[in-house]
Amino acid sequence: MSKLALNDIDISGKKVFVRVDFNVPIVDGEIIDSTRIEESIETIKYVSGKAVCFLASHLGRPKGVDAKLSLESVRNELCRLLNKDINFITDFSDKSCLQNCRKGDIFLFENLRFNSGEESNSEEFAKLLAQGMDVYVNEAFSASHRKHASVHAITRFISVKCAGFLLNKEILSLENLLHSPKRPFVLILGGAKINDKVPLLKSLIGKVDTLLIGGAVAFRTFNALGKGGTTDKDVIEIMEIAKKKGVKIILPCDAVITKELKSGAITSVVEDVPDGYIAADIGPKSIKKFEEELKSARTVFWNGPLGAYEYDDFSYGSHKIASFLTSHEMAGAFTVAGGGDVVGALGGFGLKNKFRHVSTGGGACLEFLSGDKLPGFEVLPDKK
Ligand code: 3PG
Repeated sequence: MSKLALNDIDISGKKVFVRVDFNVPIVDGEIIDSTRIEESIETIKYVSGKAVCFLASHLGRPKGVDAKLSLESVRNELCRLLNKDINFITDFSDKSCLQNCRKGDIFLFENLRFNSGEESNSEEFAKLLAQGMDVYVNEAFSASHRKHASVHAITRFISVKCAGFLLNKEILSLENLLHSPKRPFVLILGGAKINDKVPLLKSLIGKVDTLLIGGAVAFRTFNALGKGGTTDKDVIEIMEIAKKKGVKIILPCDAVITKELKSGAITSVVEDVPDGYIAADIGPKSIKKFEEELKSARTVFWNGPLGAYEYDDFSYGSHKIASFLTSHEMAGAFTVAGGGDVVGALGGFGLKNKFRHVSTGGGACLEFLSGDKLPGFEVLPDKK
């Protein structure tokens, strides 16, 4: 059942509270990936074109007020993207902004997590946020797995509520993967951590036809298969489930190795990883093998980069596979990338917009695909 959408309700001249997720990576005060902000621009423009727009988000995981996690730099980025001044509200209880505001005005609240009521889903904090607002819009797919005040409790205090454009787009695209994927359905699994992905994988494995494994996960798998020392129980468990379900498993057959993960490191391509070396990317034979397998895929979900993409020397495998997935050879396939680093990698390659869908959700994307309900989505009214 889809949820009431922003364009199903009349927001003209109203005061609209929009919960966005501007939890973007910031290094030394600089935003290094603005995807989440850019993806909400359509909703922000729509709302501010008809109403007064109050944006609210968390940033990081502060314990109380922490200047390093202020949304000030996000506000500056928003001003740049919208070419407009954005009013910044640092005191959640200061309602003076409600007095003289007009259609077209955009306000941004300071980091919601500076108030402990946000994470405890406090009614009191939710009421404070809701005070004076006529409409609630959830645009924060990537925070909708959290039962927090601005995502959950607030919906009890604003009677008119709906899903923003991005939230609906995310749910529709991911539902497509969950319920009616065109076959063959290939899951590309990479990244460094697998333990937080185990629930997702357990439920997704039975739905896919092929599992391509790259990145650090694959190199642990190499080892698990007997080519070296470590065994990773999560990788073994996933491989066993895949085998039982008849899923074809494709592993890399070569790797780019180095002694040190750093820019300009000495690298070589090998088929067995010697002791003392780190396998930091899939090698050229693996790239060909992966491309061969992907050619016939009609649905692809990519979670986790295939190498240490943040260093140029080890980004080649991820870059080649991203280029292949967005080439004319894959034009008929439904390609979705989601979860953490892979979105950053695609942004760096300039290929983000060429995927059919790039999920802004990390944890939310994984929880949704593992079949969990998202509290922030469930609480919204259904479309009649
Ligand atoms: C995310 O980055 O996945 C969301 O913004 C949620 O952040 P959290 O994991 O700190 O709740």
